[in-house]
Amino acid sequence: MKTIKYSLLVLVTAAATVGVMWLYENIATRKQEAQQVVFSVVHLDETTEDPAEWGRNFPRQFDSYRRTVDMERTRYGGSEADPFAVGEHGVPKTVSKIEQDPRLKILWNGYAFAIDFREERGHAYMLQDQKETERVLKRPQVGACLHCHASTTVAYRRAGLAAGAPGQLTDPLLSATGMEQLMKGFPIVSAEPYSNAVQRVRHPVACIDCHDPKTLQLRITRPGLILGLRALAASADAVPHLPSIERWRKGDRRSPYDANRDATRQEMRSLTCAQCHVEYYCASKATLFFPWGKGLKAEQMEAFYDEYRFRDGTPFADWKHATTGADLIKVQHPEFELWSQGIHARSAVACADCHMPYQREGAIKMSNHHVRSPLLNISKSCQVCHHFSEDELKQRVFNIQDRTKQLMDHALDAVVSLIQTLEQARKNGAADEQLRAARQLQRKAQYRVDFVNAENSMGFHAPQEAARLLGEAIDYARLGQLAVAPLAQKD
Ligand code: HEC
Ligand code: HEC
Ligand code: HEC
Ligand code: HEC
Ligand code: HEC
Repeated sequence: MKTIKYSLLVLVTAAATVGVMWLYENIATRKQEAQQVVFSVVHLDETTEDPAEWGRNFPRQFDSYRRTVDMERTRYGGSEADPFAVGEHGVPKTVSKIEQDPRLKILWNGYAFAIDFREERGHAYMLQDQKETERVLKRPQVGACLHCHASTTVAYRRAGLAAGAPGQLTDPLLSATGMEQLMKGFPIVSAEPYSNAVQRVRHPVACIDCHDPKTLQLRITRPGLILGLRALAASADAVPHLPSIERWRKGDRRSPYDANRDATRQEMRSLTCAQCHVEYYCASKATLFFPWGKGLKAEQMEAFYDEYRFRDGTPFADWKHATTGADLIKVQHPEFELWSQGIHARSAVACADCHMPYQREGAIKMSNHHVRSPLLNISKSCQVCHHFSEDELKQRVFNIQDRTKQLMDHALDAVVSLIQTLEQARKNGAADEQLRAARQLQRKAQYRVDFVNAENSMGFHAPQEAARLLGEAIDYARLGQLAVAPLAQKD
């Protein structure tokens, strides 16, 4: 009996020892793995543009960053190649949205988007897709286009230094001289012809555009956002989802709002994306800007444009519609603005929470830099907060998107009808003065349907706001038709 007890004890002790040793081993390797995160192989500074260099210190983030070349379709998002449209190096272009929905050509008649507008895809393609679009090949464009399609942090600073800004390129970007270089170079590069400016850049958005090379902290490097947030902070628009702006407003306001100084880490997890995923003006009549002087809501931005005057005194318009003669606004990808109106922003859920979710690799918790549709990674993107099955979550998204799409179809049809009615009235010889009210309503309707159409979540980022805008678009379009109908009768 005693020997049995003794043997058991030996066995248990041995097992425990093995267990402890295994645990120790495990902890040791995990510690080692954790150390690798900060283990510096190469020296990174403000001149290190090439993401592959950063990748030697941060191989996991770099590997996932590189995977933005992947293409996979979802019901309304993801990306899809067009096997018949081959671009540079034999890389297929994505499917054409204006071929898929010819109503868009009618909506944008006379503007560059009516000649080429495609499905967007991963960050790896941003520079190539811009160089290859017919909008660049067939229309004169300016260097401002690069603000959101290339790693421009170093390019702006070099241009600023060449124009006499103080300091050196190695100064920290967020130092006084670093910022002066950046802000001085920005309008210079922006005003150059595209073909000149593009010689200044080599990479799509890169590590240095979102991270400090020394501390790796998130940072804002895009002048458009720096200036846009300043204007937003100075406005009266309530932004409960951006608490640092609300705090700044309560202060003495002696120095302008500065996200790099004031924003919380959680805010930065969205603001790094707001450097580009926003509505903007970018052409030759003014330096690139975000229209946020009255706030982030669709009609506040519309009111800002309506009051805006170009340097030559002319009122704001992106283009004159070729069929109707109306002066119109074209909206581009207002993801940040629409997200701002939704329940997730209100609940402090950031872009990165869904589009760059945390994942574990051994002991390391890292952010997935394979930025893409969250529907391709529901377990990491959504199930950390929502305890429903993947299938159920997907269905909830589809419910929102299918409804938005249906309403958008009605809105697109309504705007097309207004355009056709205006066209008939012009054929009948109606004078500009008689068409004024209907053209103004076309501007309002086009702006709203475009806001939702150009936004890339098919309503998901703020479902009710998207539906509200589409409802208004339908109303304005039909009111415009009523206004012009008496002039549009065929005999
Ligand atoms: C709560 C999660 C969530 C948050 C937060 C969020 N998104 Fe999304 N986003 C989605 C979903 C879901 C879709 C729809 C994807 C689809 O249809 O495949 C989407 C779509 C997109 C798309 C189009 C993707 C594609 O594959 O076509 C872009 C671009 C985008 N979001 C950017 C942003 C930006 C920028 C922010 C922050 C300002 C943001 N998102 C915040 C969930 C989120
Ligand atoms: C404020 C940032 C910003 C600026 C400035 C900008 N873009 Fe983009 N662009 C984006 C974002 C974000 C996307 C992806 C979302 C989308 O396609 O809606 C995109 C997508 C594209 C695409 C791929 C989809 C398509 O439209 O066919 C092309 C091409 C493009 N842009 C060209 C241009 C050109 C040309 C200019 C200058 C006139 C320009 N961009 C200026 C942010 C910007
Ligand atoms: C420097 C500008 C820039 C920044 C910063 C940026 N994006 Fe993008 N993003 C783009 C452009 C441009 C495209 C379209 C590229 C193309 O179609 O070639 C794009 C595409 C996307 C897509 C579509 C991918 C697909 O497969 O269709 C998603 C999702 C996205 N971005 C989310 C984000 C999120 C989230 C952030 C912040 C973490 C972010 N982006 C930061 C410019 C930017
Ligand atoms: C569009 C902006 C953007 C770009 C470009 C970008 N990152 Fe990040 N990165 C983020 C965000 C957002 C986080 C999350 C930070 C946080 O939560 O504080 C992050 C986090 C990190 C972290 C901290 C650990 C982790 O994974 O959360 C490292 C390291 C990192 N990135 C490395 C890189 C490297 C290397 C590159 C270039 C290959 C790169 N990043 C490009 C936005 C970006
Ligand atoms: C960090 C936490 C978090 C993440 C990640 C997150 N959500 Fe949410 N979600 C919330 C919160 C908080 C609400 C607000 C309702 C509540 O308080 O329960 C919400 C609401 C929703 C709603 C209801 C929307 C409405 O307008 O009423 C849907 C649908 C939803 N989430 C889907 C998703 C999907 C799909 C994803 C992944 C792409 C996702 N969520 C990711 C926290 C999150």
